[in-house]
Amino acid sequence: MTDIVFIITLCLGLIVWVEIVRDFYHILAHNWQALYRFHNWHHRVFNSNFNPVSQEIYRKAHWYNDVPEALVMMFFGTIPVIILWSFNVDYWWFAESGFFYSSFFLLGAIFRGSGLPNMDKITDLTHHPGQFSSLPAQWFINRPYHWRHHFDNQKAYYSGTLALVDKVMGTALSLKGKTVGVTGASGTLGIEILKILHLNQAKIVAFSSKNKSITLDMNGYDLPVKTLIWEVGKEHELINELLKIDILIINHGINVNSKRSIEFIKESYEVNTFSSCRLMELFFQTIKTNRDKACKEVWINTSEAEVMPAFSPLYELSKRALGNLVTLRRLDAPCIVRKLILGPFKSKLNPIGIMSANWVAKQIIKNVKKDCRNIIVTINPVIFLIFPLKEFFQSLYFKIFTYKNSN
Ligand SMILES: NC(=O)c1ccc[n+]([C@@H]2O[C@H](COP(=O)([O-])OP(=O)(O)OC[C@H]3O[C@@H](n4cnc5c(N)ncnc54)[C@H](OP(=O)(O)O)[C@@H]3O)[C@@H](O)[C@H]2O)c1
Repeated sequence: MTDIVFIITLCLGLIVWVEIVRDFYHILAHNWQALYRFHNWHHRVFNSNFNPVSQEIYRKAHWYNDVPEALVMMFFGTIPVIILWSFNVDYWWFAESGFFYSSFFLLGAIFRGSGLPNMDKITDLTHHPGQFSSLPAQWFINRPYHWRHHFDNQKAYYSGTLALVDKVMGTALSLKGKTVGVTGASGTLGIEILKILHLNQAKIVAFSSKNKSITLDMNGYDLPVKTLIWEVGKEHELINELLKIDILIINHGINVNSKRSIEFIKESYEVNTFSSCRLMELFFQTIKTNRDKACKEVWINTSEAEVMPAFSPLYELSKRALGNLVTLRRLDAPCIVRKLILGPFKSKLNPIGIMSANWVAKQIIKNVKKDCRNIIVTINPVIFLIFPLKEFFQSLYFKIFTYKNSN
């Protein structure tokens, strides 16, 4: 039994190893001009619908890029074989799994380069043309994920099969050039998120309920930000602006603390729950093209109050309702939906918060670049355990007891 476990672990480990080699070869190809001259053929092949622009370029690209890439994988795939063999490790020959796995890619590249019909359909799954039927995947690279490497930012989304290297390198999401809108923009966290987005080369748009343009203090110079004034209950007026937004960060919120009268119940749910849901649904309506499916996202700041007391019952109730509705709606969301699960940070809403909004904003962006879909930033270690469990089981429960269509 232990031998079988060892053999399976060895084989899978060496397949992961050659995939890591592939991704680093790819990164090198984008950062070393001598290699990029060959790799560039791969980028010249496709139009934005993943249709080859010419059969000649298509075939050449395989000889200049895919064949050498597979040979490098095979070369590095033999190194563990030699090491295990020289140490006389039992079953060392199973270490050849990485080499054999890579050789399939070599054969596929040779067949495609030779122009054998239909080979692309069988051996090149991430470059098929046509409408995207899924969203960018989290772990195994699919077409929308890889599309972003070709048409969003070539200096990101390097992974070819497993998203491991992108996650470790923080290249699983590129903010460069993306138009990012933030609600609650004049608030403590809103300002810090806008600053860090700007430093990450995003085009920032502030959505504020205060009738005042936002200017960021960027350590020595003032940066005026395009500011759109909006009002809870009139979210539909934003539709034309949302069409132009790539990433919408729904961050506005209130905390009525110890109040419990009907006015405060209404206000808490209206601001924290319903206006956020309306904005999310409105944003979903803007997703139409392959590019939208691959690049548009919505991030929703629900708070760790989803699973923990915040010593403010109406805040908890309204944020939990928001969190639960987001869990339900993201089962069918037409774009990536991320939740921000934040612990207490110092702000107008929470003057006794422990973390700083600046640090929280940095952690959010760091996690987003690793493509975390539930971004937990807190000093409470229990949340890292409770929240994923709650999210998993609630999502499963919603999936079992609800239907996508009304009929
Ligand atoms: N501070 C914490 O400990 C903590 C912890 C977890 C989660 N959060 C969440 O983080 C988000 C940002 O909070 P913050 O701590 O930075 O608080 P903040 O400084 O008070 O910012 C909240 C912002 O929300 C907007 N807002 C407030 N009332 C509104 C209304 N009626 N209609 C529309 N927008 C309204 C305002 O921005 P505009 O005037 O620009 O619209 C306000 O500045 C909130 O969703 C909050 O629940 C906070």
